Amino acid sequence: MKLILGIESSCDETGVALYHTERGLLAHALYTQIALHSEYGGVVPELASRDHIRRCLPLIRAVTKEANCTLQEVNAIAYTQGPGLSGALLVGASIACALAYALNIPAIGIHHLEGHLLSPLLSSPKPEFPFVALLVSGGHTQLMRVDGVGKYTLLGESLDDAAGEAFDKSAKLLGLNYPGGPELAKLAIRGQPGRFKLPRPMLHSGDLDFSFSGLKTAVLTLVRQHTLDDQRLDEQTRADIARATQEAIVDVLVHKSLAALKQTDLLQLVVAGGVGANRQLRAQLNQVADQRGFRVFYPDLEFCTDNGAMIAFAGALRLQQQEGKKDYLFNVKPRWDLQEMNATMQSTSFL
Ligand code: KG4
Ligand code: ZN
Repeated sequence: MKLILGIESSCDETGVALYHTERGLLAHALYTQIALHSEYGGVVPELASRDHIRRCLPLIRAVTKEANCTLQEVNAIAYTQGPGLSGALLVGASIACALAYALNIPAIGIHHLEGHLLSPLLSSPKPEFPFVALLVSGGHTQLMRVDGVGKYTLLGESLDDAAGEAFDKSAKLLGLNYPGGPELAKLAIRGQPGRFKLPRPMLHSGDLDFSFSGLKTAVLTLVRQHTLDDQRLDEQTRADIARATQEAIVDVLVHKSLAALKQTDLLQLVVAGGVGANRQLRAQLNQVADQRGFRVFYPDLEFCTDNGAMIAFAGALRLQQQEGKKDYLFNVKPRWDLQEMNATMQSTSFL
């Protein structure tokens, strides 16, 4: 029976949570920096780091209060060690390790994508191992075979832009605010189906890799073709382009996910990461799942994008495997291959 504090600070969201191995998620809190970065049209790393410093301790106080416990009751502190922005990661890592030192408890570095990948296990019903995971975030698009905690096999990934990046860059071309994915999805609702058809890159490449960088060029071409004399796009045209963009990205993600299920002979698909919040993606996946007899699992909407709960949860799983280090020397890993986790995990009992 352990209580784990989780701290996420890899990008533009400070997330903190308390997870109890028997009672589940006790409390979680999130501070999003969207307003801070929106005037720059994207994340400014230095501003992100400074804001994580401001938010982290108040959020920790808030979750301990909500869970009605004290820091002295915490058995370990999990923090996002990578991948992500190095300055932002350093804030979470240094706060986690300093607190863990003061409390004489282990500090556990967590792989951010492992957090996303395991986040559907926080919901119910939850998938059983093995399953295929579609990881779709702002920085990554990967299909993984997951045989257990820490048993990950990469099946395919984006050779260039991630799906979230394709959403964000296309949104920017349409004059939408950062973060563009949810804004583009909102605009697409008003778009007419079939007016524009954008390329579906690598749809029939025969492997499970993706390529999304060509999509933004196709969107740019459409935007240029339809820009009016006053340098604006007609509102309906904007919505139509947004719709075509979303359809192209979602079609490729659905098609490749189906191919991954077929290749692995598995019947469970887990969708994780920010783009997993996209309603069109969920609707299409649910529809084909019904037709083809497989099941799709998503994290609760609030745990699709970055959050502390997934880090506290992954920390709880890791603590079952290993003591957790108590030397409190830390480093962060802005670039980190998820498959490197395989060496460090065996099996877990409380799932
Ligand atoms: O997982 P996440 O919060 O952060 C990373 O680890 O990258 O994912 C953020 C990405 C952004 O690109 C954002 O635009 C996208 O997820 N996103 C969406 C939606 N909500 C977030 N993309 C499409 N539709 C959405 N509803
Ligand atoms: Zn993420």
